[in-house]
Amino acid sequence: MEQYVIKGGNPLVGEVVIGGAKNAALAILAAAIMTDETVVIDNLPDVRDINVMLQAIQGIGAMVERVDRHTVKINGSHIKDVNIEYDYIKKIRASYYLLGALLGKYKKACVALPGGCNIGSRPIDQHIKGFKALGAEVSIEHGQIATEAEELVGNHIYLDVVSVGATINIIMVAALAKGNTIIENAAKEPHVVDIANFLNSMGANIKGAGTDVIRIKGVERLHKTEYSIIPDQIEAGTFMFAAAATKGDVTVKNVIPKHLEATTAKLLEIGCEIEEYDDAVRVVASGPLQHTHVKTLPYPGYPTDMQPQIAVTLGLSEGTSIVTESIFENRFKYVDELARMGGNIKVEGNTAIISGVEKYTGARVSAPDLRAGAALVIAGLAAEGITVVDDIVYIQRGYEAFEEKLRGLGAKIERVNSEEEITKFTLKVS
Ligand code: EPZ
Repeated sequence: MEQYVIKGGNPLVGEVVIGGAKNAALAILAAAIMTDETVVIDNLPDVRDINVMLQAIQGIGAMVERVDRHTVKINGSHIKDVNIEYDYIKKIRASYYLLGALLGKYKKACVALPGGCNIGSRPIDQHIKGFKALGAEVSIEHGQIATEAEELVGNHIYLDVVSVGATINIIMVAALAKGNTIIENAAKEPHVVDIANFLNSMGANIKGAGTDVIRIKGVERLHKTEYSIIPDQIEAGTFMFAAAATKGDVTVKNVIPKHLEATTAKLLEIGCEIEEYDDAVRVVASGPLQHTHVKTLPYPGYPTDMQPQIAVTLGLSEGTSIVTESIFENRFKYVDELARMGGNIKVEGNTAIISGVEKYTGARVSAPDLRAGAALVIAGLAAEGITVVDDIVYIQRGYEAFEEKLRGLGAKIERVNSEEEITKFTLKVS
C-alpha cells in the first residue's frame, strides 16, 4: 500500500493553485447524462472519485471522452442501462447521484444501496422522500434501490434534514418533471449552486440555489453545454490550515474567497493574518496560535469537511479548544492516530476537547478517511521528525497531486511504498 513519508518542521511558504471542487464535479458528471447532446466539462479534479464516476457513466453506455486530465466530453444519448453496479457505489457513495439523473431522464433507475462509510451511517431517506414526492415508486430489495415513475410531477418538498446529496438528487429529478417543485430546508453549499448553474446552462429552470428555498420549473429536455467546475473550497482550506499549523505563509490561488469565509474567520480567530484578493487568499501564521471553539454546520457554517484540519491545528494552539461535530456521528477517528504523535484530544460524544501541546512528534499513523488523512499529513508537516501516513488511497480520492503541491510549498514529503524507500527518504533528509 502506498504511504506518505514526511519530515516535519518546515514552515510552508509560497503559492498553490487549487483545483476544481470534487463534490461539485461528482454531481455535475452525473447530471451531464441528462441530455442526449454532448456536454463539455472542464476544471475537473484528476482524483480517484472522479475517475470512478466517469467509469460508472461509461458503464451504462454513455460516451466519455477524456480531452485532458481536467476536461471531459460526455454524451448520454446511447445509454442502454439504468442499473449502476454495486462495484461503483462501493467505491464512491456519490454514484447515487445517478439515481436522480437517470430517474429524471428515463423515469427509471436502479443503484446499489450505498453502505455507511468511515464517518457515519450516511442514510438516504431524504433522497427517497423527494423521489416519492415527485411521483416515483421506490423499493429497496437485495441491496438495491429501484425507482420508477409513470410520470414525474412537481411538488412542495420539505427536507427534514439539511442534506447536500438529497437537495442535489431532488433538483435533478425535478428539472425534467412536469410543473413546479419547491424544495424547503435545502442545502446551500457552493456545489449545490454549481449543479443548479450547470443544469440551467443546459436549459433547466432552477431558482434560489444557495438559499434554503429552491424553486424548479420542469422543462421538456436539456441541451448541450460547456461548463467549468468551481474551485474546491475544501482543498483550499486544507492548505490554509497547513500554513497555520506549520507557521508558514501560503497563498491559495484560483479560489472564491466567499466560499472560504467560515474557514478564514477561524484562522483569524486563532491568530493568523489573512489577505484576501479577487481569486486568492493569503494565510500568514507568524505568532503562536490561540485556542477557539468551533461547531460544524451546514453551509455557510463551518464545514464538516474541514473539521479534522482545524482540530489538528488547534492541537498545537495555546489553551483548550472545543470542536463539536454536528453533521456526522463518527468523524473523530483521527484522534487516536494523533495521540501517537503527542496530540492531547479527548472525545466525548460529538465533542472533542483539545488541549494544545508544544509540538507533535513524528510517528507511523494511518489515514482513517479522506479529510482525516489530509489532517494527519498536516500534523506530520508540523511535527518534529519523520511521520509515515498509511492508507493514503483515501487521501488520493479527493486531493490531486497532494504531495507535489506540498513540495511546491517547501514540504519534505514523498509518496513511497516500501520500507526501503522510507529509509532512503529518512537518510536523504537527515
Ligand atoms: C456531502 O455528503 C459531501 N459528499 C460530504 O463530503 C460532506 O461532508 C457532506 O455533503 C456535508 O457537507 C459529496 O458531496 C460527495 P449530507 P452527503 O446528505 O451529501 C444526514 C468529503 O469529505 N442525512 O449533506 O452525503 C446525514 O447522515 C465528503 O468530500 C440524512 O439523515 O451529506 C448527515 O448527518 C465526506 N438523510 C447530514 O444529513 C439523508 O437522506 C448531512 O449529510 C441524507 C443525509
